[in-house]
Amino acid sequence: MEYINEILSNLKKNNKYRGEFKKLQSPQKEKVVIDGREIILLGSNNYLGLCDHKEVKKASMEAIEKYGVGAGGSRLTTGSYTLHSMLEEKIKDIKGTQKALVFNTGYMANLGIIQALCNKDWVIFCDKYNHASILDGCLLSGAKFLRYRHCDMDDLSYKLENFKGKCNLIVTDGVFSMDGDIAPLDKIVEISKKHNAVIMVDDAHGFGVLGKDGAGTASYFGVNSEIHIHMGTLSKAVGSIGGYAASEEYFIEYFKNFSRSFIFSTALPPSSVAASIKALDIIKNEPLRRQRLLENSHRFKMELKNLGFKIPDTVTPIIPVIVGDEEKTLEFSRQLLYDRIYIPAIRPPTVPKGSSRLRISITAAHAWEDLEYVIERLKTTGRKLGLI
Ligand SMILES: Cc1ncc(COP(=O)(O)O)c(C=O)c1O
Repeated sequence: MEYINEILSNLKKNNKYRGEFKKLQSPQKEKVVIDGREIILLGSNNYLGLCDHKEVKKASMEAIEKYGVGAGGSRLTTGSYTLHSMLEEKIKDIKGTQKALVFNTGYMANLGIIQALCNKDWVIFCDKYNHASILDGCLLSGAKFLRYRHCDMDDLSYKLENFKGKCNLIVTDGVFSMDGDIAPLDKIVEISKKHNAVIMVDDAHGFGVLGKDGAGTASYFGVNSEIHIHMGTLSKAVGSIGGYAASEEYFIEYFKNFSRSFIFSTALPPSSVAASIKALDIIKNEPLRRQRLLENSHRFKMELKNLGFKIPDTVTPIIPVIVGDEEKTLEFSRQLLYDRIYIPAIRPPTVPKGSSRLRISITAAHAWEDLEYVIERLKTTGRKLGLI
């Protein structure tokens, strides 16, 4: 169709076209092989290096031997294994809730939770930088939704005071995926109490990274029990695949009955579930991994700041290097790839116009010598492009 081609060529003209994939030819690790070259990877959400962990892989392979490769049906028909329930038990224990429910991805969890919970009687108050899957859930729900300025508690209070409805939901990322900053959950809890609103936290990037035993952003703020709905993924620090909701029993039973992305999709294969269970044990039993992740991230961030890059003050492993212009961001990423470093260029619509960036993410598995090499190349290329 002519109109589709026109849109694609406009994307190309504006440096927004998402073209060829970078195809990995090795496991997801701190160094990967792309086009036959070994590359340092600094864009992965494999924060704790568990995607290729020996014991995680062993657990997954044993599950394949025992149960085969597919679940064969949805959880509500023929696809529920004892492994799914074991994983849900583990998640509810970590989050300190009554129950948990596993979805196939974090995206599907957000979609399913919000669509099930909210309808036209609800007003949803949503941080402007929330993940796309939250927005899609809001749209699907048919609720009225308002976006408050990023982490701006005055704006959230103002919007609640003036626009609240019969039922109200405040939904926020715990850690913002493209900025690495953290939602002020302590303040959001206070505001929600004042307005009797339900709070939902998407902790895709906080789970396994922040808080006691990696329990997440709410634990980091000491407000775990005040969050009504914890959502998270098993695809980032946990290194596997899947999403979850953890909450009081009645919410979970409600999602099980009404979340369409849960009901109408084949369950996660037992091998992925077994991988998540083993990874969660490792996260709990090996706190040094988390410590190393946060130390690596802090040290790396300090070095970049000293070089003059504008880096926000955060404690997470997500480090945005804001470039602004789309073409320059792509060029930055291209030049680094030439130097055997892969840091993805992030452009609108994923981030606001004028804030294109390199999204660096550090992992516990990165060796400091490799990070030093990256810092050196960022310095040289950043200077060449006039960024520092
Ligand atoms: C904040 C946030 N929520 C949800 C998701 C979706 O999770 P998943 O990749 O497991 O579908 C992501 C991942 O991109 C994310 O960054």
